[in-house]
Amino acid sequence: MSRHLDTDHADDRSSNQSANPHLADVMSRRSLLKGMVATAIAAGAPVFPIKDALASTTSTLGFTEIPHHMAENHAVAPGYGVQVVIRWGDKVEADAPAFDPNNITAESQAKQFGFNNDFLAYMPLPLGSSSSDHGLIFSNHENVHHQLVWPGIVEDKVKLERQTKQQIDAEMAMHGLSVIEVKKGGGRWSVVDGSRYNRRIHTNTGFRIAGPAAGHARMKTSADPAGLLAYGTLHNCAGGVTPWGTCLSGEENYQNYFGGDSQKTAEAKNHKRNQVGGAIRNVWYKFYDRFNVEKEPNEPNRFGWVVELDPYDPSAQPIKRTALGRIKHEGAYTVVSRDGRVVVYTGDDAYDEYVYRYVSDGRFNPNDRAANRELLDKGTLSVAKFEADGTMRWLPLVHGQGKLTAENGFRDQGDVLIDTRLAADLLGATKMDRPEDIDVSPITGRVYVALTKHPNRKPENVDGPNPRAGNQWGQVVEMIPPGEGKDADHAADVFKWEVFLAGGDPKKPEQKAKYGAGVEHGYFACPDNFAFDPKGRLWIVTDGQDDAFGVCDSAYACDTTGPGRGVTKLFFNSPRGSEICGPAFTPDGRTLFLAIQHPAEEKGSTVDKPSTRWPDFQANMPPRPAIVAVTKNDGGEIGS
Ligand code: FEO
Ligand code: CA
Ligand code: CA
Ligand code: CA
Repeated sequence: MSRHLDTDHADDRSSNQSANPHLADVMSRRSLLKGMVATAIAAGAPVFPIKDALASTTSTLGFTEIPHHMAENHAVAPGYGVQVVIRWGDKVEADAPAFDPNNITAESQAKQFGFNNDFLAYMPLPLGSSSSDHGLIFSNHENVHHQLVWPGIVEDKVKLERQTKQQIDAEMAMHGLSVIEVKKGGGRWSVVDGSRYNRRIHTNTGFRIAGPAAGHARMKTSADPAGLLAYGTLHNCAGGVTPWGTCLSGEENYQNYFGGDSQKTAEAKNHKRNQVGGAIRNVWYKFYDRFNVEKEPNEPNRFGWVVELDPYDPSAQPIKRTALGRIKHEGAYTVVSRDGRVVVYTGDDAYDEYVYRYVSDGRFNPNDRAANRELLDKGTLSVAKFEADGTMRWLPLVHGQGKLTAENGFRDQGDVLIDTRLAADLLGATKMDRPEDIDVSPITGRVYVALTKHPNRKPENVDGPNPRAGNQWGQVVEMIPPGEGKDADHAADVFKWEVFLAGGDPKKPEQKAKYGAGVEHGYFACPDNFAFDPKGRLWIVTDGQDDAFGVCDSAYACDTTGPGRGVTKLFFNSPRGSEICGPAFTPDGRTLFLAIQHPAEEKGSTVDKPSTRWPDFQANMPPRPAIVAVTKNDGGEIGS
C-alpha cells in the first residue's frame, strides 16, 4: 500500500476505539525483564539478543549480501539474475491488444496484466505435480496509483474529482486477479501466449458469496436482491494457497472505493469501525451508484472477505468465503493441522487491529479434491489475545457465545462475520502494530506474523508482541503452537509467542532492534510479506524502508533455527519508489518470483516525470509494476 500519501486517507489508521487493554497495562515479570534489557541497551550491551543465536553468526544462507541502496534499478546478490516475466499492460487473455500507454481503455485493461501486482502463487502444472519449470502464476492487482497512469492526475481530492468515466472504467479493469501460464526454457521464464488458463478477473466479474453471510439481509443490494453474487474484488493484498490447489486472496482496503456519508445509513456503526465513508482514493461513486454508500449502504459489506479461485479451471467462478471474517485482510495462509483440520491465519492490516485464525470443522481429504470445497465455509473464526506471560489464546467469534448476542447487536453468525472487528473488540483481542502477512514454517510449524509498524503507538500502550512506542520499523512475531512440524496443533486454544525480529538499525540502540548476532547489511524496516524456501528459511520483503531509512525496499532471508536464527541477510533491492510483494518459490527452490509494486511512487513523481522508468527504461514507457523471476546463474537453489 502506498506510504507517502498515507496522511490523507484512512488505509491503515486506527479506527479501534475499543477499550481492549494493551498488554503493558498489566505490569509483569516479562515487562520488568524488558526494562532490564532497556537498561542493558543504554549501557551498550547487545540489543535484544536472541538466545539461540548468541554463540555464532553462522547462517545457512550462502549468498553474498549487498548493501542497501536507492536507485532507479533493482540490485541482487552476486551470482544471481533477475528477469522480468510480465508487466502491467502485457497480454494475458488471447485477444488482448499490445500495451499502449497513450490509449489505456477498460476494454484493453480487462485482458491485459493489471496494475500493482501484489500476492503471487506459483501453482505447478500439472496439478499435483512439483514441476518447477511449468506452472501457473496467480497474482493480485491491489490498487492503482492514478498519478503513475494518467498525465495531470495526482492523488489530490480536487484533482481526483476530475477523473473521467473512461479513466475510472479502465481503473476498474486494472484491479482484480490474473492467472498466467508460465514455462522455463533455456534458463528463462516466459508467459505461454494464448494459454487456456490465462485469465483476468476484475471489478465487474461475478463472485459467488459462500458461507454463513451468504444471503444475509445485510449482503443484499438492488443489483443482487438475493445477497449471493458480488461484483468484483477490491484491493487484494497478500493471499495463500490451499492444500487442494486453489488460491486465496485477501480483500484489504476496500473502504477506499466508497463515497457518500456512511453515517447517514443504517450501517453507520459498521462503516465507522471499518473506515467506510472516510477519505477515499477513488471517485467511482460519481458514475456508479453501488460505490455510493448513501444509495447502496450494503455494498461495502460485500468486500473485506477472503476470496478463493481455482486457477486450474479456467471457467471457475471465484468465491467469497465469508466464514473467514470481514476485515482488511492482508493475506490468508492455509496449513493442515495434525488432526487434518484446515487452519487459515489472517491479519487485519491497520494500526491497532487483530490477528485471526480460522479452523475448519471438516478434515482435509488429499484423495478427493472436490471433497474439500466446503472446508472454508464451515468452521470457527477466532481472534488472538496475547498474554504477558508468553502465552496467547484464540478467542472464538461464535454467535451466542459470550457477548456475541442479539442484545449486543449480533442477531446471527452473519452479523458476527460482517462485523468481525466489532465482535473481536468485545472479546478483548490484542491491538497489534498492523498485522500483515502470516506464514508457517514447513519445518518447525511455527507461525510468523509480520507487524509492519505503528508510529503512533504510545509509550503507555507498548506490550509484549508490540514492544516499542513510535514504532517506525515493525517486527516479526512467532506464534508457537503445541507440537512440532507436521505434529503442530494449529487448532489448539493456547499457543506461545515470542518477538523473533524487531526491525530498525542495530547501530542505533535507541531503535531497540532485535536480530541474531552479526547482522551486517540485513537490517530492515516494515516487514510486509513472507515466503519460506524449501529448506525452511524465512524470506522477508518490506514496504516502507524509504520512510524509515531513506533506502529502497528490499528482500531478506534468515534461518529461523540453529546458529543463524534471526541473522537476516540482504538479497535484493527494489527500484526506487516501489515495494516488494508476493515472494514465491518454485517447489525446487531454484526460482524466486517477486512482485514489484508501484515503481516510482515517490512524492512529486508522476507519469509525466517519474523517478524511475523501471523496468523498460524507455522514454515512451511509464514505470510499470511487474513480476520478476530471480534465478541463480549456475542453476542452483536460491540462497544455497
Ligand atoms: Fe496491502 Fe497490507 O498491504
Ligand atoms: Ca504493501
Ligand atoms: Ca503494506
Ligand atoms: Ca501487504
